[in-house]
Amino acid sequence: MSTSIQHLHARRIWDSRGRPTVEVDVQLSNGAQGRGVAPAGASRGSREALELRDGGPLLGGLDVSQALAQVNGPIAQALLGMDACEQAKIDQTLIALDGTSLKSRLGANATIATSLAVLQAAAASEGLPLWRYLAGDKAVRLPLPEIQIFGGGAHAGRRVDIQDFLVMPVGAQSFDEALVMVANVYHAAGKLMAAAGKLAGVADEGGWWPAFDSNEEALQTLTRAIDAAGYRYDQVAISLDIAASEFGRAGAYKLGLEQQEFDSEAWLQVLLGWVNKYPILSIEDPFAEGDTAGMQAFTNAVGQRIQVVGDDYLVTQASLVAQAIQDKACNAVLLKPNQIGTITETVQAMDVARTAGWGMVVSARSGETEDTAIVHLATGWDTGQLKVGSFARSERMAKWNEGLRIEEAMGGKAVFAGKQGLPQKPA
Ligand code: PGA
Ligand code: ZN
Repeated sequence: MSTSIQHLHARRIWDSRGRPTVEVDVQLSNGAQGRGVAPAGASRGSREALELRDGGPLLGGLDVSQALAQVNGPIAQALLGMDACEQAKIDQTLIALDGTSLKSRLGANATIATSLAVLQAAAASEGLPLWRYLAGDKAVRLPLPEIQIFGGGAHAGRRVDIQDFLVMPVGAQSFDEALVMVANVYHAAGKLMAAAGKLAGVADEGGWWPAFDSNEEALQTLTRAIDAAGYRYDQVAISLDIAASEFGRAGAYKLGLEQQEFDSEAWLQVLLGWVNKYPILSIEDPFAEGDTAGMQAFTNAVGQRIQVVGDDYLVTQASLVAQAIQDKACNAVLLKPNQIGTITETVQAMDVARTAGWGMVVSARSGETEDTAIVHLATGWDTGQLKVGSFARSERMAKWNEGLRIEEAMGGKAVFAGKQGLPQKPA
């Protein structure tokens, strides 16, 4: 029976922030079905592909009826009858139909939900889980999780300036053990904060909403939480997403909490001070998206020792990854499929990074749903790392729990990337 696309339909569903988003269902002529959902960011890079939102007074301008109409109209027309197993052709059709550099006509929310739904349908028609369909005959590993303990920045009312204080359970022997370690640190951190009167709830991605007096107090508390949970720093290490574009630009970085402003050189010294003082193994977006000199200086200083990840700096774009390799501006890429708008373009950015020996981190957005596709992408593509937010709230836990099911399905052949998931040839 044929794997041609017979039916394609978009509906509005709601994300973890209670905002509208796009879900697409695809049915093939052999009866196989696939579903894709668009996540949504809050701290977006300016070069990201555009989400199509309605604007206007209703639902804060965030409704997606225009994106749904694009899927149910022109996208369905173009894709009906095409072979779902030819992902590159499907995505090329979406890119050509859109015709803009940032997917502003169809909307990246419309294109990524469609692209993913087709991929899921292709896997389903082989009777395979997505990770296995993507891996083919290759041996692949469960990714090293990067899990948020405190939220900040745009995800916690800017209560602290740094966006994500995360941990990486590099000493775990399995994905299952990795989650146990993170659970222990997450709850130890919550207890410490509650005892100190510094706990104000949970932030957008499920990390504790902190009431700290300084950004560095978050680092001190996180280090203490690792101690309290009984781990050494070669078992559980710290990772930060600075998301510096949210509070700085080349030449001027302003910490709102401390009311302090730094030029690029002074900001570099602050970050280097933290890397030297705390058990930090990875830093994302330490400088603003346009601050190539800052990224280069930071990578030059610590890129041999720790991972330097580009998120807003690279926006999952293969050409920007290639440029950053030349510039030695980072040594790892964050892969967010909705940042670029199709699966094929996400794979292109990943392939450029992989060839350079960079780290690769598949990542969720701060606005998510119960969809677990990214866990399958990280595993099936063997990226080595996965970032999903914290260890609370079901849109996050659905993904961590899916990793456990995949590990179990691999049985005796399961391999956990662990520390090897980090870049093996740092900049
Ligand atoms: P976002 O944040 O999804 O709100 O953009 C995630 C990140 O910066 O990594
Ligand atoms: Zn980021």
